[in-house]
Amino acid sequence: MMHKRTYQIFADEYENLADLMEVDRQLILKAREASENAYAPYSKFLVGAAVLLANGEIIKGNNQENADFTDGLCAERVALFYAHATYPNIAVEALAVTAKNSNGLIAGPAQPCGSCRQVLVETESRYKQPIRLILDGAVKIMVLNGADNLLPFAFKPGSLG
Ligand code: THU
Repeated sequence: MMHKRTYQIFADEYENLADLMEVDRQLILKAREASENAYAPYSKFLVGAAVLLANGEIIKGNNQENADFTDGLCAERVALFYAHATYPNIAVEALAVTAKNSNGLIAGPAQPCGSCRQVLVETESRYKQPIRLILDGAVKIMVLNGADNLLPFAFKPGSLG
């Protein structure tokens, strides 16, 4: 027996930053600010992330590259790991990510890489709550309620059996 299934993911899409709720708009502005300090001399793709913690703190991160190309880290993981290192017991409520290339802010929505998606899934498991994901862009901004919408069928702590 074989079943064809359809699974759904959900996204809210915005054309204007002004239409987002205030906290998400602020988080995008912090992510854009963070992108200014990215160290991306090789890709010239400047990524910024801002993490909102349950205690109201906002932690910023940006991508950090290396001449050997393989030893850099994405903005999202820089921000999330710094947040966990500094506030190990405070839940992550939301994360905004933005990116710009030589033409400025990308059309968007900015898309976290697979490894960052996996780390987002782990963070949700750790704090037992979904993370609101705000993906910036000049043409389209996407807001997702939880990493399941970015990484369905994820490998989670429960997958270890
Ligand atoms: N990058 C991020 O920082 N976050 C993403 O979500 C996608 C990619 C970085 C990695 C690398 O420094 C540059 O963007 C080009 O891939």
